[in-house]
Parts: sequence; structure tokens; C-alpha cells
Amino acid sequence: MTTHKPIKKAVFPVAGLGTRFLPATKAIPKELLPIVDRPLIQYAVDEAREAGIEQIIFVTGRGKTAIVEHFDVAYELESTMSERGKDMSVLDPTRATPGDIITVRQQVPLGLGHAIWCARAIVGDEPFAILLPDELMIGEPGCMKQMVEAYNEVGGNLISVLEVPEDEVSSYGVIATGAQVSDTLTEVTGLVEKPKREDAPSNKIISGRYILQPEVMRVLEDQEKGAGGEIQLTDAMARMIGNQPFHAVTFAGNRYDCGSKTGFVEATLALALEREDMGAEVRAIAERLLAR
Ligand code: UTP
Repeated sequence: MTTHKPIKKAVFPVAGLGTRFLPATKAIPKELLPIVDRPLIQYAVDEAREAGIEQIIFVTGRGKTAIVEHFDVAYELESTMSERGKDMSVLDPTRATPGDIITVRQQVPLGLGHAIWCARAIVGDEPFAILLPDELMIGEPGCMKQMVEAYNEVGGNLISVLEVPEDEVSSYGVIATGAQVSDTLTEVTGLVEKPKREDAPSNKIISGRYILQPEVMRVLEDQEKGAGGEIQLTDAMARMIGNQPFHAVTFAGNRYDCGSKTGFVEATLALALEREDMGAEVRAIAERLLAR
């Protein structure tokens, strides 16, 4: 088996405006909205760490500094908790190894492709991961770990995909599929962002997790605006197909689109129902509400 350069860096684009969640996201970044008691960004960072990622790169914008604060030491909080003998292990996932969190700014939210390009100097000449924190991926192992395992086999570029009903494809990036490599791994022959339903090459949508070769940065450099007037990552990736290996991993697990309100509520319910400490109580509440 050939060895591929390991994936040690992950980019988290968090500079979007989160307009679908206004007014909640006027002063609070969308990525800090909690699903039960953990903010979305925490789930994504944990997923990356589980996959062996060491360097966390946040592409931030104005009003997003609280995301970086979340991964810092909170002296006042911690000393008060310690004096009161409170269990501080809940804060463990928020601790970062000094130097492992890097932020770059996207001054104007010109699109996901542009946000990724803003991290080019930190990514350098290495393959890297991208995680969109508003797509919550719950699985064992996590989605990024499943992707890194696939990457170790085939190398090149990988995206995670899932199947949706045909009338939903026009909200997403959609893939055209080639050879089936295994049950969960397929060759990608084309990509299109937000196609009309009748133009969609499949019902397999890109689901917010990527492993890309650094060449994508050079492609993004002159990427024109695409769907929605934004610089689209999907368009840049589409231009790489044919020059580099491109595969899709079908994620074995549950995905919640927490960028949409209903997806957010679904995630909150699903994760609360699964929790040992509250599942039974939440189930009883849900049943009571449904019986109203
Ligand atoms: P979304 O389109 O889902 O996020 O982008 P948004 O623009 O913040 O949300 P709405 O549509 O206005 O409600 C997916 C991810 O890409 C980031 C977002 O922060 C989100 O994590 N993003 C998007 C950027 O960092 N920069 C951009 O220019 C666009």
C-alpha cells in the first residue's frame, strides 16, 4: 500500500453571517449555538481530533472572536469552580495545546471557496481537511475518521456524501458518480453546486467534510463567482477532477443540517434522546407534547 501524506491540518470556515438564524446570530456566532450543552464548533473540533488532526485553523470574521475564546482558558470561571469544588472535566474538550489553534480572517464573506482560500498560507503544501461546523455528523467512528481511513487507501481528494430525496438536491452540492471502489467509496466524475432538480447528476450530496490536496488553493485563486454570487468550493473542486483522484465516502452515521432551523431542532431532539442522563425524561416530554 502506498503511503499518503498524513492529514494533520483542518480548516473550519466560520466567517459566514448565519442569516437563517437571525436574530439569534446577530451577536453570537452560529457555530456557538449549542446542541444540548455543546456548541456546534465543539462537535466539529472533537471529530477532527478523533481523526488525528493536530492543527485547527479557523477562518473567522468580525463578531466571531467568541469562537476562539471558547478554546481558551477561562481563569475566572475555572478558579471559581475550583474554589467551589465543582467538576471541571466538562471543560476538558475546550482546552487546546498552545499553538495548535490558528485563526485567519475572511474580511468579507464572499463564499465558502473564498473562505478556504484565506487559509492558504497556513495550509501550505500539505493535504488538509475541511469541516463545516453547521453540518453535525454523528457516527462511530466519526465522519472525518472514516474519511481519513479511506484517504489512507486511495489518497487524493475525498468528500463525504449522503443520499437525499430528489426534490432536495437543489439546495446542495451534488456529485456525478463513476466506478464503485467499495461499499462506501465511489469515484467522483463531476460536481455541481445547487443544480436544478432536473439537471442534478445524482441524489448524492456533499455533506460538509472534505480532504483536499493543496492544489485546490491555486484553483481557488482565480475561481469565478458561482451559485448565489459566491465563490464556491464545489466549482473549484470540479475543475480538479480529471487531474487528480477524487472519491466520495458515504458516511455511515447520522447527519444533521444545523444550518437550517428544522435540522437544528432535529439534532437537539435526537442527541437529547440518546443521552443517558436525560434521554428518558426528554422522551416523556416529547410524548406529552405530541399528545397535546
Ligand atoms: P453557510 O452558507 O451554511 O453559512 O456556509 P452562512 O452563510 O453563515 O449561513 P446563512 O445561509 O447566512 O444562514 C457554510 C459554512 O461556511 C462558512 C459558514 O460560516 C459556515 O460554517 N462560510 C460561508 C464562510 O466562512 N465564509 C463565507 O463567505 C461563507
